[in-house]
Amino acid sequence: MRTPFIAGNWKMNKSPDAAVAFVREIAPLLDAIDGIDSAVCPPYLAIPAVAAAVAGTKVGVGAQNMYFETSGAYTGEISPTMLQGLCRYVILGHSERRALFGETDEGVNKKILAALAHNLTPIVCVGESLTQNEAGETQSFVSGQVRAAFAGLSDWQAAVCVVAYEPIWAIGTGRSASAQQAGDIIRTSVRDVLTDLFGSDTAQAIRIQYGGSVTEGNIADYMSQPDIDGALVGGASLKPTFVDLVRSAVI
Ligand code: 13P
Repeated sequence: MRTPFIAGNWKMNKSPDAAVAFVREIAPLLDAIDGIDSAVCPPYLAIPAVAAAVAGTKVGVGAQNMYFETSGAYTGEISPTMLQGLCRYVILGHSERRALFGETDEGVNKKILAALAHNLTPIVCVGESLTQNEAGETQSFVSGQVRAAFAGLSDWQAAVCVVAYEPIWAIGTGRSASAQQAGDIIRTSVRDVLTDLFGSDTAQAIRIQYGGSVTEGNIADYMSQPDIDGALVGGASLKPTFVDLVRSAVI
């Protein structure tokens, strides 16, 4: 009942020209794949041109971050009102934002509420570090991140969100979590927590992605897990083989 969803997080890669050339190549191919939603999340500068290039296809566009205020003296920031109408999704709380740019659970929660207020679909990122994983703290840490991110949301607001479970030790390392491992954490630390917060109907409607060294070679394993509804893909979303990855995700 949940439509699978694969999103490409391009991170700080591709100029606007390169982004448009790439998306012109992949969008018609992605558009032809039935039974799955796909999206690309380019750097801010490329969003307008990429959005124009995918118009008329079912390929979605997302931003990689956003500030929660709508305007004002916030040098270097981009607001929800600037993204509204230009793209559909916004990645919030990515571990790189949390680790390198000081984002907190409280700030991520404010951003999620602001995104929802402006008709943007948040892709809410959670995930533990290697140290936390090895200390057996994954479940408590990830559950805490989910509770903090979803604080103050109504059931209908929660149902709109996408969650991406991305263990930090698996991001860009080629060391992906096993499908079973990822599926178990997503069930116990994300879906069960959402059930506790919002009830079963809402929790069952929320799409939960796995992220961390996902490739066209391993995506089918993840998709075979009942609670994994797709992937947030970094490196493998920058190449034309992203189309094969999306194709392989359709069960
Ligand atoms: P990689 O797919 O490159 O490991 O990156 C994952 C990620 O951080 C997506 O947001």
